[in-house]
This record gives sequence, structure tokens and C-alpha cells, in this order.
Amino acid sequence: MAQAARTTADRTEDRAAGRPDDGVLASFEAAKGFMPVDEGLALYAAAAEAARTGLPLLEVGTYCGRSTILLAAAAREAGTVAVTVDHHRGSEEQQPGWEYHDAGLVDPEVGLMDTLPAFRRTLHAAGLEDHVVALVGRSPQAAALWNRPVGLVFIDGGHTDEHATADYEGWAPHVAEGGLLVVHDVFPDPADGGQAPYRIYRRALESGAFTEVSATRSLRVLRRTGAGI
Ligand SMILES: C[S@@+](CC[C@H](N)C(=O)[O-])C[C@H]1O[C@@H](n2cnc3c(N)ncnc32)[C@H](O)[C@@H]1O
Repeated sequence: MAQAARTTADRTEDRAAGRPDDGVLASFEAAKGFMPVDEGLALYAAAAEAARTGLPLLEVGTYCGRSTILLAAAAREAGTVAVTVDHHRGSEEQQPGWEYHDAGLVDPEVGLMDTLPAFRRTLHAAGLEDHVVALVGRSPQAAALWNRPVGLVFIDGGHTDEHATADYEGWAPHVAEGGLLVVHDVFPDPADGGQAPYRIYRRALESGAFTEVSATRSLRVLRRTGAGI
């Protein structure tokens, strides 16, 4: 049986339930990146809730903008903005010879990865350019300049201990009370993946400043419920 066309009322219901509308989901699925749909839906739900604080949503690890679409759509709904940080030269595992390398993302003139053009195309295609501020640079340097609360921090940058720890220490303190910290690629079992994101997730919980809200595959959502980080 043919599916009935979705109405404005359906879309309002989607938003109230923390689901992105069909256009946003289609843009997410079309974008280059690694995040599966179920994690994307969990990220969107967290972002939609956090955006209602009116505070900005902050992402570390833009890549080609797949997850940024979700933060931007949530920010648009709430009249706030998504901020996304990346040097756009790729993480260790995205370099030539590594598992997640995409040769189509190498700048032929410079000979290095450059995901910025793909990211800009992604946002343009999704119609979300006006809802995103992109910071091009290293996460710790951007964090050192930042001095205001945010509704959500999404950590999906470098996956070494050095990078994940710097992302946590640089950005988690800016999550407002009641706001959300989301960490991607959390693998409790080392057989499933690298342990650096798992270690910052554990550190956040053990600090007493965060309480777990949800777990979807490797995506963990924590709420800021205490002071010290
Ligand atoms: C796993 S990808 C992000 C994927 C993206 N969130 C998505 O869902 O499509 C990690 C990104 O983090 C960036 N990155 C790694 N270390 C970084 C650092 N120290 N500062 C800024 N960006 C960094 C890489 O350039 C890469 O684009």
C-alpha cells in the first residue's frame, strides 16, 4: 500500500517526539560519513532537547558534515546555532593506508586530506548553512578561546587518548547544568574498537558531573548534573 504523504502536522509531531523530519534524515543518509541511522536518531533527539535551552550546540569532528546536519536541524528548530570544529585534515585512521581513508578527499594540489569542501557541499545541499558556524582548526586551540556555556557537546574528533582527553577537558566544562555531553565510538570491549572515547566517557561518569541518559550502539548521551569535571 502506498504510504500517505506526510503533513505539516506529522512533521510537528516528529519534532515533538525528537525525530528529524524526512528531508533532514534524507540529507543525513546522503552525506559522506560513518554514523549509522540509529545513532543519528539518538544524536538528533539529544540535540533537539539541548537546543531548547537556547544555547549553542558544539561538535568536535565535522568531517564531511553528516552529523553536523542533525545538530544544525535541531538548532534551526530552536532558533540557536550549531558550532562545529575540525582542522579538516582527517584523523589518524583516515590517512592514506588506513582503514577509513577516502582517496577522493585528498586535495591534489596540497597532497593532504581536505574535508572542508565536502562539508560545505553537504550543508548547502541540506539547506542548513545559515544554522552552522564552522571553526577550522585544532580542537584544543578552539576550546582555549571559548568562554560561554553550551547546551550540548558532541565529541567525535581524534580517537587517540591525547585527542579525546583534550576534547573532554577543553569542551565538557562548557556544558551547562542540565545540558548534554554526547560521546561517539564508545566501546567497552576493546575487541570492538579503540578505548580512548570509552575512557573519557568513564571519566565523565566518575567525575560525578554527568549522569548517563541513553546508549545507542556506540553513542552515549550524558546529562550535566554536577559541578566538578
Ligand atoms: C570520525 S570523524 C568525524 C565524523 C563526523 N562527526 C560524522 O559523523 O560524520 C573525526 C574528525 O575529527 C577531526 N579531528 C581529529 N582530531 C582533531 C583535532 N585535534 N582538532 C580538530 N579536528 C580533529 C578529523 O579531521 C575528522 O574529520
